[in-house]
Amino acid sequence: MITVDNKWKAAGYVTEPVPEGVDMKAEIRRMCKEKNAVIMAHYYTEGEIQDIADFVGDSLALAQQAARTDADIIVMCGVHFMGETNKILCPGKKVLVPDLNATCSLAESCPAKEFGEFVKAHPSHTVISYVNTTAAIKALTDIVVTSGNAMQIVNSLPKDEKIVFGPDRNLGNYINSVTGRQMVLWNGACHVHEKFSLERILELKAAHPDAKILVHPECKGPVVKVADKVGSTAALLKFSQEDSAKEFIVATESGILHKMQQACPEKTFIPAPPDDSTCACNECNYMKLITMQKLYNCLKYEWPEIEVEKEVAEKAVKCINRMLELSK
Ligand code: 13P
Ligand code: SF4
Repeated sequence: MITVDNKWKAAGYVTEPVPEGVDMKAEIRRMCKEKNAVIMAHYYTEGEIQDIADFVGDSLALAQQAARTDADIIVMCGVHFMGETNKILCPGKKVLVPDLNATCSLAESCPAKEFGEFVKAHPSHTVISYVNTTAAIKALTDIVVTSGNAMQIVNSLPKDEKIVFGPDRNLGNYINSVTGRQMVLWNGACHVHEKFSLERILELKAAHPDAKILVHPECKGPVVKVADKVGSTAALLKFSQEDSAKEFIVATESGILHKMQQACPEKTFIPAPPDDSTCACNECNYMKLITMQKLYNCLKYEWPEIEVEKEVAEKAVKCINRMLELSK
C-alpha cells in the first residue's frame, strides 16, 4: 500500500524524481491502461503533455468529455478548477491534478464570501459564473458558462432577465457589448489575457498586413475590438484551420500555438506580445506547472486527488449540468 508522503502534501505534488532508465512516456501510457485512467489536457499545457493526453480540449469540451468517460481515473492536466469540475460531474471517479498549485488568477479573484455578498446585494438576478471559478462559487451560481458557450447561453435567457456575471469583467463586458445586455459584473480578470498590448499587436499587424488577429474574450476591450475572430481556445483553433489566411496573430495563452501549428504546419502563428517585454506574460504560469514528471508521479501514486465537499458538490453540479444541457 503506497502512502502519500507528508513532504509531498506540503509541496502540492509528488516531488520524487523519476527513477533512472524509466521510459517516462511508455510508463505513463502503461499505467493508464493498467489503471483504466484517462489523461485530459487543456490547450495551454506544454506541448508534450498535450501529445501524451487521450483528449485535449477547451474547458467546455473537457467538461463534456468528463461527463461521458467510463474511465475509473481522470488525470486532469490543467488547472484546479478543471479538476473540480470533473470531480463534481463524476463524484464516483478518482480525479487527479498533477500539481495542486495549478490554480487560476480568475478563480482566485473571486472569493466565495465576497461573491456571496455581491449576489445577496442583487436579489432577483440570475447568477451566471464563468467556469474559471472554485466549486464554492459554483454552489452560489444558477448557470455556469465557458468562453465557448457564454454568448449562446446568455442569449437563451429572456431579454429583460437581470443577470449577475462573474468573475471575468472582460468576458462580461464583451457579452454586454455584443448582446446589448447590462449584466452586473464582478471585477475579476486573468493575469495573462489582461497583459496583451494593443499597441504591439497593431505593430505586428502593420508588419504582417495579411495576418488575421485571433483573440480570446478574456482580453481587454480594445484588443477584442481589433480581432478578426473572438472565441474560446477551441473556436480560435478551428478558425485558424478553416480560414484561408496564411498568418495569424494569436492573443491568448501561447500553449494553443502547439495544436495550431500541428494542424497547419504550412501556416505561421505569431504569439501576441504582452505589454511588458521583460516577462513571458503570454504564458499561464499555473498551466505550465503541469510537467511530465508530475504527470508520471501522479499516475503512479494516484495523488494529488481532487476532493469536493459533498454539500458543495451537490449544489454546484446543478449549474454545471444546466450549462451542459444548454450547450447541447
Ligand atoms: P477556454 O475555455 O477557451 O479553453 O479558456 C480557458 C481559460 O482558462 C482561458 O484562460
Ligand atoms: Fe486562469 Fe488565465 Fe491561466 Fe486561463 S490563462 S487558467 S484564466 S490564469
